[in-house]
Amino acid sequence: MVITIDGSAGSGKSTAARGLAARLGLPYLDTGAMYRALTAAAIQAGTSLDDQDALAEVTQSIPMAVTCETDATRITLAGEDVTDQLRTLEVSQAVSRIASVPAVRSRLIDMQREIGRQLGDLVTEGRDQGSVVFPEADVKFLIVADAEARARRRYEELCNEGRGNAGEGNEVEGVSFSEVLKNVQDRDAIDARQWAPLLASGVAVHVDTTGLSVEEVIDTLVTHVRRITHTAGA
Ligand code: DC
Repeated sequence: MVITIDGSAGSGKSTAARGLAARLGLPYLDTGAMYRALTAAAIQAGTSLDDQDALAEVTQSIPMAVTCETDATRITLAGEDVTDQLRTLEVSQAVSRIASVPAVRSRLIDMQREIGRQLGDLVTEGRDQGSVVFPEADVKFLIVADAEARARRRYEELCNEGRGNAGEGNEVEGVSFSEVLKNVQDRDAIDARQWAPLLASGVAVHVDTTGLSVEEVIDTLVTHVRRITHTAGA
């Protein structure tokens, strides 16, 4: 059984995908981590983020191995496990540039399909899993959450790190809530292009995680998987 989980950043989809994989005892593929790993490689090689050909070359030439466990996806680059180095600010800020390079996408999409073929059963998470990579998946989820709620969380994180303007009338320089909200909305618009075919197909199950606990989200996903796979098997 192949289950795809696509959706916006900060919607809680990674936690949901890991939780669902653990409940069902299936391997978990975090495709964002694959884009992040190639980003880390490009940064380490000193490649300019503006040079698409150089990005394609450096990211094509580095050997990458992906291991899917039920609660994690481990990535090695040229034999070195880089899994714990993929969430740095530097990688997070650069990754969307690398993810927009066609040669990078086609390499990773081929790898993801090969992983799917080898494993047979998996929970895979990203932006294009149900639409492009596994169009034949058994169950497809689209996970969303209210943009204002996500922006509020991010803004509070920035304020705690001393990088937010901490509210009206405050003299402290920093990022305002409306700037954070605009950033979240802009990123959603870019991401949404990737799952547009999923929406058009009408088969994706939409789950809005706003106001739900992690357990409630996972329960919801499990219920849908049981309903859909029982219906399909009946
Ligand atoms: O989910 P994440 O934040 O780890 O994703 C990192 C980046 O990779 C983000 O810019 C979206 C991009 N991405 C993508 O384009 N396609 C995917 N299947 C997964 C992630």
